[in-house]
Amino acid sequence: MAFVFLFTMNRVFIKTYGCQMNERDSEQVASSLRGRGYSVVDNEFDADVVLLNTCSVRDQAEQKAIGKAGYLAKRKRTDPNFMIGVMGCMAQNRGDELVDRLPDLDLIVGTQKFHRVPDHLDNLIQTMSGEGPKPSTIVDLGEETDSQNTIKDHLPKKNQVSAFVSIMQGCNMNCAFCIVPKTRGRERARPMEQIVEEAHALAEQGVKEITLLGQIVTSYGRREFPVVGGKSPFVQLIEKINDVDGIERIRFTSPHPRGFKQDLVEAYRDVPKLCEYVHLPLQAGCDKTLRAMNRPYTKERYREIVESLRSIVPDMYISTDIIVGFPGETESDFNESAAFFEDIGFDMSYIFKYSIRTGTPAETMLDQISKEEKERRNQVLLDILHTRSLWRNEQLVGTVQEVLVEGPAKRGDKFVGKTRGYRNSIFDGDERLIGKLVEMKVERATVSTIYGDLVLAGVDTI
Ligand code: SAH
Ligand code: F3S
Repeated sequence: MAFVFLFTMNRVFIKTYGCQMNERDSEQVASSLRGRGYSVVDNEFDADVVLLNTCSVRDQAEQKAIGKAGYLAKRKRTDPNFMIGVMGCMAQNRGDELVDRLPDLDLIVGTQKFHRVPDHLDNLIQTMSGEGPKPSTIVDLGEETDSQNTIKDHLPKKNQVSAFVSIMQGCNMNCAFCIVPKTRGRERARPMEQIVEEAHALAEQGVKEITLLGQIVTSYGRREFPVVGGKSPFVQLIEKINDVDGIERIRFTSPHPRGFKQDLVEAYRDVPKLCEYVHLPLQAGCDKTLRAMNRPYTKERYREIVESLRSIVPDMYISTDIIVGFPGETESDFNESAAFFEDIGFDMSYIFKYSIRTGTPAETMLDQISKEEKERRNQVLLDILHTRSLWRNEQLVGTVQEVLVEGPAKRGDKFVGKTRGYRNSIFDGDERLIGKLVEMKVERATVSTIYGDLVLAGVDTI
């Protein structure tokens, strides 16, 4: 009887909010649940358990997840065995407060405890199937030594071309606006050999592109591993991944301008698989605002990094994160920032409207900027970005680009892939090309996509 009960309780749906780190953590949870005999389903209506993996970077992201948890809780009225868990950054950030606000939650799991989810679900199901009272919410938010080493397994996926690999957790910086140091803890690096092993295993499964993930990848291993031949541990790691047969492309996110030294710039010249694309958060293009944000660089230093990258790789693609409406950002500070943003010429950017985060240094800063003004500034930057991205894509019309084929496009019968510069590319293809490097002659460009025809069977033979 207990077996039958367990059997009917084992369908889990995981919904992920936020960044690639969260996507990666969710995949780890899915993989460990499968290993424990649960089935991971792709929609909430087929699930007995819904886990929300949450984001705290902006208030809106938290409100979305809280709203969703409240909505799911209604289902418990008709289905008392249905279970809801909240994992990740908001769980860590709001912890016990969530239990008060949402007493129907069964499970609250912090950012260092993802690997404990299968045990907790097993326990909950066992207690529920017994005669006793309904189990109370399990709250697991502690620190865990070496939790960074637990994000290592991947779900086997058909035709997987690209994979994220988590190389570290946490961040030791103290950017005034940012909740991440609170939700993710101190920097902890995974051992290099384990990361390289993971890359080998992914290559064997057919993965062609690896994106190395961390909150501040330029700090990777700086306490754990020595500098060798002038190269930081992060650059050493990139070189090792470059040696993995089968992997064709390497990317990473996110570096910090402070740790972006010449060895990393030169890696773009010397490491063939490292794609000529960098996501380098700027946050503000005005020294006064950067100082207030506690970002330890000037805009001129940022420009220097971009110039050294472009001098080594002339067709480098650069993307960024920038915040508008940080407390105290005056009209003229913003205009300076916008001018710098335009001057650098970003090919892609996430533009954020500043959101107050409880417990961060900026929480109590005076001169908060109004919602309308943040909206206006956001639009100014969006327009600049739009013009630049379109121009950059249009420069590609008539050229031949190397594209890594990902699969069929969501709509229509075309195929999609990416250039090394991370341009979304659309063309006529077929299933056999998935995972291959092909050459596309660009015929047409929009802000976000280039369209073209394949000119060769491929750099690989089909
Ligand atoms: N280093 C991390 C950054 C985490 S947060 C990474 O690797 O992605 C992602 C981005 O959210 C930041 O770069 C910043 O631009 C934005 N952000 C962080 N806190 C914010 C806040 N309080 N309001 C608005 N945007 C914020
Ligand atoms: Fe956040 Fe700044 Fe670290 S943006 S993740 S505290 S580098």
